[in-house]
This record gives sequence, structure tokens and C-alpha cells, in this order.
Amino acid sequence: MRTRLYVSTLICFELALFFASSIQKHTTRICHRIMPTSWMKPSSMRAVQYSGYSGGAAGLKYVDIPVPSPKKDEVLIKVEAASINPADWKIQKGMLRPFIPKFPFIPVTNVAGEIVEVGSAVQELKVGDKVVSKLVFWKAGGLAEYVAASESITVARPAGVSAADAAGLPIAGLTALQALKAIGTKFDATCSGSNILITAASGGIGTYAVQLAKLGNHNVTATCGARNLEVVMNIGADEVLDYKTPEGAALSNSSGKKYDYIVNTTTDGKWSAFKPALNFPGRVVDIATNFWNFVASILTFFSKKKLSIVIESMGNEDLRFLLELVKEGKLKTVVDSRHPFDRAADAWEKSMSGHATGKVIVEM
Ligand SMILES: NC(=O)c1ccc[n+]([C@@H]2O[C@H](COP(=O)([O-])OP(=O)(O)OC[C@H]3O[C@@H](n4cnc5c(N)ncnc54)[C@H](OP(=O)(O)O)[C@@H]3O)[C@@H](O)[C@H]2O)c1
Repeated sequence: MRTRLYVSTLICFELALFFASSIQKHTTRICHRIMPTSWMKPSSMRAVQYSGYSGGAAGLKYVDIPVPSPKKDEVLIKVEAASINPADWKIQKGMLRPFIPKFPFIPVTNVAGEIVEVGSAVQELKVGDKVVSKLVFWKAGGLAEYVAASESITVARPAGVSAADAAGLPIAGLTALQALKAIGTKFDATCSGSNILITAASGGIGTYAVQLAKLGNHNVTATCGARNLEVVMNIGADEVLDYKTPEGAALSNSSGKKYDYIVNTTTDGKWSAFKPALNFPGRVVDIATNFWNFVASILTFFSKKKLSIVIESMGNEDLRFLLELVKEGKLKTVVDSRHPFDRAADAWEKSMSGHATGKVIVEM
């Protein structure tokens, strides 16, 4: 009898302990989900928005609007840095008219910052995490002090990777990586390496593409303007051609070797110029397609010399891979310029000029 009483008391005690610890865990979780005690959510924030097509940098206006509340699968990010991509101002120009954007529109999709609040269904990320996010282009919202982003498009940023370096990565880094993966590049030195040409190697995508191509063991010829020859050489290109010289225009390297692959990142690149420079078989991976290259992609579909179009897609694993390379010092974000938030228009203008060397960054 005494033993039975003892066992029941023990079971009750264990159960009480179990419930108490569950309640405590749950309470801690709820507290974490709301916000840290040191942070008071402001009621409003500054953001940059535009209210019509075209307008360029002059069309950007600062507004005070409520800080967004994350939906249940979203995190609220206090933005530390954002990078401008050509797609941002092409959307403002009306590239996706009449569907996107809905005015007024806060542009910019590539942001890095710190999580200050999480929605109730967020699984992995938590308050205080440093992250990088590639916001969906139809909502964007990155040119603001705070932005709500779905957990599915947000990745933790390793310690030691700055917000500016991380903010450069999502579109430009992923595009470069996916273009190189499309030609079978492995980034672990097991790749035998091909003879490849990267056009506009001084741009946001080109600067990542050159470095990644070298990690993939390729022999890289690159094109850029005269002022950037040294920059592109310094990030690892084996040979750099000034695109304004006759050799540069003909895409011919000093060895006279043709290219197994061409990664085209300039809208000026034409299939008619690429075809004679290609090996047989050979392939152009075009990420900055113009109408004629689009036609060529269809006409060359079954050819041994072909042009195929690559469109970047968000891939958390790819983004983590790039962040890891940056952390290990194997990949760097070439920064064209850093602009304080209250001079975001300057950043916009710089990107629109088409003459950035690497990434244009806005810091909040
Ligand atoms: N397919 C996709 O999924 C995808 C994704 C992202 C972007 N894109 C597109 O890819 C293109 C490149 O993007 P980005 O961010 O790299 O652009 P970016 O950073 O604005 O590129 C600017 C750089 O390109 C150089 N450049 C321009 N024309 C050149 C030419 N003919 N030959 C050599 N260099 C040239 C410029 O050099 P100079 O100043 O010396 O002229 C400048 O350094 C854009 O059209 C963008 O819309 C496509």
C-alpha cells in the first residue's frame, strides 16, 4: 500500500514537473516571438516610394508610414543595408506594366538586417538573427527602415558577413551562381574547367560571376570598360578585354582560343557576335536577354552552338552557399558605392546609369 502511494506521488510529481517546464518553454517562445524587451516597436518608419511609372530618381519620395506587422509566416526585419538592382528601376520604368507595381510602391528586393519580430508560424528564424532576404518583386518594400519578409525567402547571415556584403548577394550572386551551374560548374575544384567568356564582368552580376567561375576552375576571359580592367583582373579573370576596342568587340582573347561557354550579362550582347567566338559545341548562357537573343534561343535549340536563357530564381540553399563563400573569404561583394538612406536617390541614379562597378548599396 505504502509503495503504491509512493509511486503515485512520484508520478504526480513528474507530471507536475513536465507541465511546469512545458508552460515555461511555451511562455519563453511566445516572449521571443513578440520582441526583445530592449526593443520598442515604433509606430511609424521612413520609407522611399514612388507613385507612377518613369520619374527615375526624382520620382522617389520619402514618406512616414506605419511599421508593417509580420503575417504568421513572416519576420519583421530592421533593414541595415539594401542593394539596388537594374530590375528595381526597370519595374519603375514600366517593364511589367500594367500588372506591377501597385502604386504607391516601395521598391528594392535585396535587403540585409536584423529580425525584430516573428510571426506565430515562423519555424527556424528568431528575434535577433542577422539575415538576408530576397523579397518578392511584386511587393518589394526594401527601401525602408523595416520590412516584413516571408521566412521562406530569408536566410540567416553568418557572423562576419557584413550587411552590405550580404545585401549585394540575392539577385546578382544567385544569377551568377545559377548561370554557372547551368553549364555544369562545380565549385569544389573537381571541375576540369572550361574556356569561358563573361561579358560586363564589372557589373553586379559579372563581378560575382568571375569569382565563382574561378572557384569552378574555369579559364576566364572577361569584358569590361577600360576604367575597370584592373578591378576585374584583381577578382581573378585570366584575361580582360576592353569592350570598346576592336579586340574587345570581337571577343577575341590573346591565345586565339574559342570559348566553350559565354556567360552574357549585357543587354548589348548579340548572338551574331557570340556565335563566331564559340567552340563547336559551345553554348551562350544569356541572363540579359534582348529580343534577338530570345529569337536565337529558339532557333538554336537543337544546334551544337546554342544560346539558352537563364532566369534567376530564389534558392535558399544557393544563397546559403554564397554567404558561406563570403564568410570563408572566397567570394567578395565588389561595392561600387555606399549611400546613406537619406541619399537613396543617388544610389538609384547610379544604378540607372548602367555604369556601376559591382553593387550599389544603400545603408539605413
Ligand atoms: N536573367 C536574370 O534572371 C537576371 C537577373 C538579374 C539581372 N539581370 C539583368 O542582367 C543585366 C546585368 O545586371 P547587373 O546587375 O550586372 O548590371 P550592372 O551592375 O548595372 O552592370 C553595369 C556594368 O556593366 C558594364 N557594361 C555595360 N555594357 C557593357 C558591354 N557592352 N560590355 C562590357 N561591359 C559592359 C558597365 O561598364 P561601363 O561602365 O564601363 O560601361 C558597368 O560596369 C541587367 O540587364 C539585368 O536586368 C537578369
